[in-house]
Amino acid sequence: MKDLYTLPKAELHLHIEGTLEPELAFELAARNGLELPYASVEELRRQYDFEDLSSFLELYYATMAVLREASDFEALTRAYLDRAAGQGLRHVDVFFDPQAHTARGVPLEAVIDGIRAGLDTARAQHGITSTLLLCFLRDRPAAEALAMFDALGDQLVRIDGIGLDSAEVGHPPALFEEVFARARAAGLHVVAHAGEEAGPEYVREALDVLRVERVDHGIQCLQDPRLVERLVADRVPLTVCPQSNVRLRVVRTLAEHPVLEMLERGLVVTVNSDDPAYFGGYVGDAFQGLREALGLTDEQAAALARNAVDASFAGAPRKREMH
Ligand code: HPA
Ligand code: ZN
Repeated sequence: MKDLYTLPKAELHLHIEGTLEPELAFELAARNGLELPYASVEELRRQYDFEDLSSFLELYYATMAVLREASDFEALTRAYLDRAAGQGLRHVDVFFDPQAHTARGVPLEAVIDGIRAGLDTARAQHGITSTLLLCFLRDRPAAEALAMFDALGDQLVRIDGIGLDSAEVGHPPALFEEVFARARAAGLHVVAHAGEEAGPEYVREALDVLRVERVDHGIQCLQDPRLVERLVADRVPLTVCPQSNVRLRVVRTLAEHPVLEMLERGLVVTVNSDDPAYFGGYVGDAFQGLREALGLTDEQAAALARNAVDASFAGAPRKREMH
């Protein structure tokens, strides 16, 4: 059997703020003169028992408040890439949540400066390539997303695409039609979370109205066989996050996760870590978990890894290099 930790991999669904490990959160809090409402790293880690997406998001947004300076975002990004390099990561399309930072008074430029510096270092040190995707928070007004997009100015060329995340149910994709149209017109890549907790209609809307290139999560498509047929026929990549689905109680156990059935049905499935600091593991751990729980074969692992390279936003020459 192949070592799944050294298998070369690309990751397409990774929130950089979700890589904030408790140790670094305490270090940054001390550096910035802030207090986390927990006595210790262990106490913070004990909070990682989530009921659903919303209960996770509450802790996720509260903890990321320790990120204040560009250097904090750089330290966060470097720490993630150092870990992921040790798990076979070769390319990553990184999400970040700017509204969660600008709402706290952190300038967008500082956020992007820090993340970009971390990504540049990883490229030099580990040979890991990356793109940066700005996610809009769907539980905030669409007008705020539009205002942020229109105010990007010099920062526009520093992002490669946009996404849509945060609390899904009650915040359908179509609300964000306009900002997605503008992003497409600006030549950016477009993706959206859909079908994580909400049903197949959200996936259809993301495709029809937002015209996304990939669907993040998307596993609720399984409730609608016609949608599955369409996703197979159109070869729409799905960035599935098995550990996240279990931790957020979308799927009961890893052993019951449908990811390998999806692969066998011809869906263009990829495996990703989502928020690895919170959900119990990085991308290599995600593959290893599937082997232990579902008997992932070497052939299936290779197919998942190949799908991720093909579906990534790395350029064609880099894709060829990774194959
Ligand atoms: N879903 C929606 N929003 C998120 C997630 C997620 O899994 N992680 C970080 N923001
Ligand atoms: Zn996500």
